[in-house]
Amino acid sequence: MQVPLLDLRLQYASIREDVLSALTRVCESQQFIMGSEVDRLESEIEATLGVPHAIAVSSGTDALLVSLMALGVGAGDEVIVPTFSFFATAGSVARVGATPVFVDVDPDTLLLDPARLRTAMTPRTRAVIPVHLYGLCADIDALRAAAGGVPIIEDAAQAIGATCGGRPAGALGTMGCFSFFPTKNLGAFGDGGLVTTADDQLAAKVRLLRNHGAHPKYVHHEVGGNFRLDALQAAVLRVKLPHLAQWNSQRRANADRYRSLFSARGLRQRIRLPIEPSGRTHVYHQFVVRLPGRDRVRAHLASRDVGTEVYYPVPFHRQPCFAHLPTAAGAFPNADAAAADVVALPIFPELTAAQQEHVVNSIAECIA
Ligand SMILES: Cc1ncc(COP(=O)(O)O)c(C=O)c1O
Repeated sequence: MQVPLLDLRLQYASIREDVLSALTRVCESQQFIMGSEVDRLESEIEATLGVPHAIAVSSGTDALLVSLMALGVGAGDEVIVPTFSFFATAGSVARVGATPVFVDVDPDTLLLDPARLRTAMTPRTRAVIPVHLYGLCADIDALRAAAGGVPIIEDAAQAIGATCGGRPAGALGTMGCFSFFPTKNLGAFGDGGLVTTADDQLAAKVRLLRNHGAHPKYVHHEVGGNFRLDALQAAVLRVKLPHLAQWNSQRRANADRYRSLFSARGLRQRIRLPIEPSGRTHVYHQFVVRLPGRDRVRAHLASRDVGTEVYYPVPFHRQPCFAHLPTAAGAFPNADAAAADVVALPIFPELTAAQQEHVVNSIAECIA
């Protein structure tokens, strides 16, 4: 039996006709950049998430970049990020000329640790970027308290549909940043992203910066960039958006099934499963377990045709491009431990019970 980490062809098969007719609609219109598809996508996401402003952009990376630009973050400023995330979280800070300040993660959730955030705050801290890693929201109330009044930019790239205290990711901080990379829970057919905010002025600034700071055309108030989303991507996302809640609940059901299967095999003592703190809804962009001998287990799973991946093997403080940064020399034991033992198992919505049994049986062969 084959169990890929992700098989997007199954999702496509379930919505093929709707996607093709949406793509045809855009082709017939010959309007490829921004336009009504993008406008409608933004309104539909505003309604779905219950956020006042949703601004579609070219990628999750650009969502982070333009958010920092809109807040006026630049040279001499510090921005606090967890050291354990995808590169874009810290890379975008460096790209605006600010200094990423690395903070260790909570050992159980692998999310930005509020107590450590508090001690990393300085008078130069201009923003904090918690990451809702793997689809679980960071502890927003504790982070807010630790951050004082400093703006919080949620890196919600992996967490569309997740909630904390009944509020959705993207509505928890000053700004929220999403990715529509094809493998995400809501994925386009190429790159795409989104910024959310309740702040009218920040929303207007992001809209301006998205298109080279121009308003009207050819009159430039700011130096922005080309952070626009294609109409073809918006059309695909509009087809997928109404299915998102169902797909996320299938991911959650698959997570529950893994828990039962690992319990039934008596493996709960040997393998750390993801936790879901009360009051938060995990959307399992990834189902990441932790186990000793991770690389040996991965090799065994590969031999059983089970796809896995490591998110992320090298924390920011160990990245060559950040070696010069003051905080790179610090101690980050929780991130280092995670980098050594995390592994993502297949969790996509269409995964079958038989496939999950094969994954768990294959792990049991190796660690029981
Ligand atoms: C946590 C996190 N932040 C930012 C990004 C960047 O998103 P994109 O790939 O759309 O630029 C990603 C995407 O992988 C991510 O996982």
